[in-house]
Amino acid sequence: MENNSENIKRILQLECEFNRIQDVDILLERILTEARNMLNADAGSIYIVEGDKLEIKFSQNETKQKELPPGQKLIYSIFKININKKTISGYVAATGEIVNIPDVYTIPADAPYHYDPSYDKLAGYKTGSMLSIPLTSSTGKTIGLIQIINKKDAKGKIISFTKDDELLVMHFANNATVALQRAQMTRAIILRMIKMSALRDPKETGMHVNRVAGYAVEIYERYANKYKITEKDVQKNRDILRMAAMLHDVGKIAISDTILKKPGKLNKVEFDTMKGHTYLGARLFIDKQSEFDEIATQIALTHHEKWNGQGYPGHININTGKAKKKDKHGNAKGLKGQEIPLWGRIVAIADVYDALSSKRVYKEKWEQDRVLEEIKTLSGSSFDPELVTIFFEVLPHIKQISDRYAEEKE
Ligand code: C2E
Ligand code: SIN
Ligand code: SIN
Ligand code: FE
Ligand code: FE
Repeated sequence: MENNSENIKRILQLECEFNRIQDVDILLERILTEARNMLNADAGSIYIVEGDKLEIKFSQNETKQKELPPGQKLIYSIFKININKKTISGYVAATGEIVNIPDVYTIPADAPYHYDPSYDKLAGYKTGSMLSIPLTSSTGKTIGLIQIINKKDAKGKIISFTKDDELLVMHFANNATVALQRAQMTRAIILRMIKMSALRDPKETGMHVNRVAGYAVEIYERYANKYKITEKDVQKNRDILRMAAMLHDVGKIAISDTILKKPGKLNKVEFDTMKGHTYLGARLFIDKQSEFDEIATQIALTHHEKWNGQGYPGHININTGKAKKKDKHGNAKGLKGQEIPLWGRIVAIADVYDALSSKRVYKEKWEQDRVLEEIKTLSGSSFDPELVTIFFEVLPHIKQISDRYAEEKE
């Protein structure tokens, strides 16, 4: 292979980079992009083993992507595949073997697996060569697979994957798997932290925080695209944003059950107590040892501030909860407009959209149309109008996340 040493160099570089990415989803997308780039392949997917099924986590397709306006991401269908030897991905997951197919439409009849052309029909795409590499953990367990599709030569002609390609991606997949497992562990620890707070009500699941974080990242990505924020910064920020957004309500751990789980409307005193969940949460990150702590503080503290300055907790000292700037009633003056950090403005929309779309102890779930009307109505009063516009632009992605983290899944 002509650029072998370049690729090895790149792999070593990536090893360091992957160690720094703490978020599983973002890590997987990077792995897929890098694997495709190295092999000059048009498309690919990552599958993760979830219980006894394979779940498609990410799909990339350069050809389909080019048909979209810049900055828009592909919508792909999320489906689950049984782990058995009949499909190609199922076979790889079941056996832990590499499968390298020159052309999926000419698989020998005696092969254990076959290719289902309905995926191509659905996508309006022609799959040719396909390399499927298992992600094998240190204990020998297959935790997923990378599937790379349609390798191209310099002229763009579809060609087969070579033995060298297999070795390269194998090495790459091994390194990626270690990072993947580490990231999964970090995330598991944060999820436990979240559960400690959010699961105080047995009816609540971790799904609300997953959804809010997912929505926030979608909004941020579109925003970052609009403002031409570098890919490097976006990558770093969305990683941090996702986890920090998951902890937006962590301060609720300090709120008593009588208030938190009250089936009816809160009275003034109760609601004032509830408002404390903002700075009480922010205090958990007050040491600010990392950028994550910084952003988690901002989100916990400001996700209930309003664009018009009528939100809470306003200009306060986090440590004491006392007002630093007062309004004419002697209460803390609310942060207003751009005074509210971007992260807080983004999570505010994500949080309210999800709260309205979900059942709570104190309210029923709203119809989607009504929810969207409300978000529009709150534009310019509660929310940054520019971010509301962006929210509606990424709505299909928001819906996809709400399906992925639907309540009944837990
Ligand atoms: P949450 O349930 O996650 O709601 C987050 C935010 O979504 C709320 O912030 C509010 O801005 C919006 N929201 C939720 N439900 C509605 C609704 O029916 N109508 C409208 N217009 N907006 C809604 P907010 O109001 O600052 O409340 C913060 C947290 O305080 C809530 O988080 C919830 O945990 C608690 N809370 C608020 N009101 C009540 C209540 O009447 N009873 C109980 N038990 N808890 C409440
Ligand atoms: C909770 O703290 O009960 C869950 C968080 C939420 O629903 O906002
Ligand atoms: C804060 O963001 O910590 C409160 C507002 C301020 O004092 O500027
Ligand atoms: Fe909150
Ligand atoms: Fe919330």
